[in-house]
Amino acid sequence: MMSIQVFTSAELAAAGLRQAVIDLCLAAHEDNAFRYMFTKYFSSGARHFLAYDGETLVSHAVVSTRGVQPQGLPILRTAFVDAVSTLPSRQNQGYGSATMQRLAATIGDYEIGCLQTDRTSFYAHLGWEEWRGPLAGRSDDGPNPTPDQRGVMVLRLPTTPPFDLDAALTIECQPERIWE
Ligand SMILES: CC(C)(COP(=O)(O)OP(=O)(O)OC[C@H]1O[C@@H](n2cnc3c(N)ncnc32)[C@H](O)[C@@H]1OP(=O)(O)O)[C@@H](O)C(=O)NCCC(=O)NCCS
Repeated sequence: MMSIQVFTSAELAAAGLRQAVIDLCLAAHEDNAFRYMFTKYFSSGARHFLAYDGETLVSHAVVSTRGVQPQGLPILRTAFVDAVSTLPSRQNQGYGSATMQRLAATIGDYEIGCLQTDRTSFYAHLGWEEWRGPLAGRSDDGPNPTPDQRGVMVLRLPTTPPFDLDAALTIECQPERIWE
């Protein structure tokens, strides 16, 4: 039976679950970036969503706080989603969707959701919309355009102000990454 548990990054580490989550992400994505992502980008207050089948960890997603800014609007308090992963042997069984639905229901304190993916159709079914306008990072030196970036998606939340998917969208630059 499926259950979903929510942990902050600090709680995940304290419960001894962090390595199991990293192993799940590595199995799903075969991307070594997950070895350092968890310490580099997710502060102690980041929210992890863990889906279990009984005792088996099957899916994961994490929300950290960033700031996207659609052109003409203030910087929005942004629930940025990373490390969405389902065990390869358990994909296409609804775990990822259930994890993302629980996540979406738990970020009402944010003004918008954002993520970057190579698999936009999966998220589109869950209400996420692909950004169509120009994208850039914001840094102290000014905008850092990312014209080749694809797959940036946003999720409207109850407090999301009206915006135009064709306008420009920026996000603060992080160490060694902008969107992905
Ligand atoms: C992308 C990913 C997180 C999805 O997780 P998942 O657990 O397979 O997701 P779900 O099972 O909920 O949904 C996957 C598909 O199966 C379908 N599905 C959901 N429940 C189902 C069920 N019970 N039976 C059959 N299909 C089902 C969904 O409609 C969905 O279809 P879609 O891809 O056309 O949207 C997972 O495949 C993964 O970790 N992939 C590896 C990494 C990757 O590709 N990442 C891309 C995003 S960065």
